[in-house]
Amino acid sequence: MAQVEFDNQAFRQALGSFTTGVTIITANAPDGTPVGLTANSFNSVSLDPPMVLWSLAKTSLSVAAFSEAEHWNVHVLSQHQQDLSNSFAAKGEDKFSGTKLETGISSAPLIADCSARFQCRNMVTHDGGDHLIFIGEVLGFDHQPLPPLVFQQGQYAMTARKPWEAVNLSSEPTAPECSYNEDLLGYLLGRSHFQMLYRMRKVFDEQALEDSHFFALSVMNIQQKLDLEQLNTHLDYTGHSVSEDDMKFLVSQDLISKVDEESYQLTSSGRETSLHHIAQAKAIEEELIDELGVGDVMALKLLLKRLIHKTDPGLPDLWSTQDKPL
Ligand SMILES: Cc1cc2nc3c(=O)[nH]c(=O)nc-3n(C[C@H](O)[C@H](O)[C@H](O)COP(=O)(O)O)c2cc1C
Repeated sequence: MAQVEFDNQAFRQALGSFTTGVTIITANAPDGTPVGLTANSFNSVSLDPPMVLWSLAKTSLSVAAFSEAEHWNVHVLSQHQQDLSNSFAAKGEDKFSGTKLETGISSAPLIADCSARFQCRNMVTHDGGDHLIFIGEVLGFDHQPLPPLVFQQGQYAMTARKPWEAVNLSSEPTAPECSYNEDLLGYLLGRSHFQMLYRMRKVFDEQALEDSHFFALSVMNIQQKLDLEQLNTHLDYTGHSVSEDDMKFLVSQDLISKVDEESYQLTSSGRETSLHHIAQAKAIEEELIDELGVGDVMALKLLLKRLIHKTDPGLPDLWSTQDKPL
């Protein structure tokens, strides 16, 4: 039979298109030593009886332990457990040091704070090429609404759920071709910024503050002492600026005070006001988490951070200059 050429690397890449969760599988060696490794080969097999499977490379240091183990536990990792995933993917480390464990059905290690856990009895082990395939009966399971860690194309990823129905913006008139339309990234970012700020503005209005005053107070909450020019350097990218008159207004409201001829700082009531703004922003975020789900908000933040990094025109770093936040 003619030998078909097989590109192993391309095969791995093709398999990487299949997006998976990330698990840690644990067991005890016969001498009681805990073993465990990161695995994304986990899958469901049967609902009734409840069965799952996963596969273990024959090169793994824990082959002997898993081959003899009567029980093993599967831990579906959540977004905040990426470091744990990395430590269990490293060979020969003391993987369990510092890992919070709980008591389970068997003596196999049971890791806390995961998205889901399946406590299994090994039913059968199959040979699977360079892997061993373990099939287990699920004796117990639990899960929490924590967004799961995802693995795709050799990288950790986050998921953003797609709503069943397309997002309804139909109340807006359809934009004519070649003009701004609702799918333009700049439009989406701008609109979401203004909609978020719109809700904050209700709080500003209570104190007759304008957006520029809010930006100025936020910067001064981080930088203790600034003159007008320094302040405006930080505000430059927002398209807003503050004038001498704005500063006089903020002084008259007892929100800032003069440190010397040139520089200003927040007064204690200014700091309180700024903290009130932050609390309001957090409350709006909490509501958004309730609406969108914590996983989607985390994914949104990740993408926004990447975008901010990529589009940074070289702004002065607010947090790393000499005056540190209080
Ligand atoms: C996301 C991810 C998924 C993995 N999936 C598996 C897997 O399904 N089976 C496996 O044997 N190794 C898998 N590995 C590799 C093992 O975690 C790694 O080889 C580990 O060092 C094995 O540890 P051990 O030799 O101490 O058992 C995966 C690694 C990562 C980062």
